[in-house]
Amino acid sequence: MPTILSGIKPTGQLTLGNYIGALSRFKEYQDEGEVYIFIADLHALTLPIESKVLKENSIDIACFYLASGLDPEKSAIFLQSHVSEHAELNAIMQNYLYMGELRRMTQFKEKSLSMKDEAIGLGLFAYPVLMASDILLYQSDEVPVGEDQRQHVELTRDLVTRFNHRYGEILRMPKAVTPKTGARIMSLSDPSKKMSKSDPEGDIFLKDPMNIVRKKIMSAVTDCGSEVTLDPIGKPGIANLLNIYAALSHISQEEAAKVFGGYRYGDFKKAVAEKVVEVLEPFQNEYLRIKESKEYIGVLKSGEEKARRKARKTLTKVQKAVGLLTF
Ligand code: TYM
Repeated sequence: MPTILSGIKPTGQLTLGNYIGALSRFKEYQDEGEVYIFIADLHALTLPIESKVLKENSIDIACFYLASGLDPEKSAIFLQSHVSEHAELNAIMQNYLYMGELRRMTQFKEKSLSMKDEAIGLGLFAYPVLMASDILLYQSDEVPVGEDQRQHVELTRDLVTRFNHRYGEILRMPKAVTPKTGARIMSLSDPSKKMSKSDPEGDIFLKDPMNIVRKKIMSAVTDCGSEVTLDPIGKPGIANLLNIYAALSHISQEEAAKVFGGYRYGDFKKAVAEKVVEVLEPFQNEYLRIKESKEYIGVLKSGEEKARRKARKTLTKVQKAVGLLTF
């Protein structure tokens, strides 16, 4: 039975990109393997964040996980900071990844681009070490993520090769699993940029009211021309909307392009907006119900226990392998 692990960082409001690329897919694994889904709260500290905002975002993600159909009886849902083994494995693993490798990470380059060296926290630089520790702690086989996280999983694979070469078969080799459709949802205001939590104009937030969702899609930047065709280079804005529609309808982008062949842009956008509303509205209602009921607290507590059992085993194995005493 494969072990599946993924996490989301509570840095800002979750977007439709997070939903399509990752969140909505987690539940598909529940009957296939051992599933660990966590809130990457330690990762959220790698850029400045208000403590109140971090708390609120963490609760939101727990509620979104449950609203997405994750069943706490089947999956361990927990907070990264509640399972201290993440930090302990991180302290060991930081010695097996190198500065040159970390400096090459696209996410680090993008996030630190506008920052002075004096203002870049060590945590931001060392981010992939903690992420690798998250993955390795559960001996994960599959890591469902969006395209932007693939590079971090690749680095984790390099780390496994290096570590196992030195100490024997201690760590399981994980692989990133990205969806065929929707692995990279682009900004609605600039389809050359990824939709990200820090881009209010081009984002659809999972908490946006439905009239705002409709408005944002109707004013999405499209391209010259007026007919819908699939042309990611010439018509990236249309391709992105086709991608969103396809992912939410569980069809391919090509199939979506066929559905809308001959449509004018305006009617096409209306149909995409209605599809997004059809999916988001019930999801949002469920999120609100769960938040109100506070059932997430019990879920996070039992998830933590389940996670720790597995985490402890791996940590002890690694500690023994490197020569730390474990009486
Ligand atoms: P985060 O919080 O930035 O994003 C959560 C998930 O959403 C995906 N995603 C997207 N997918 C499609 N289109 C987009 N525009 C888009 N934007 C984001 C991300 O790829 C991700 O899967 N480092 C991780 C959190 C993490 C983690 C882990 C993930 C920490 N440890 C271990 C997996 C395994 C992150 O910052 O994701």
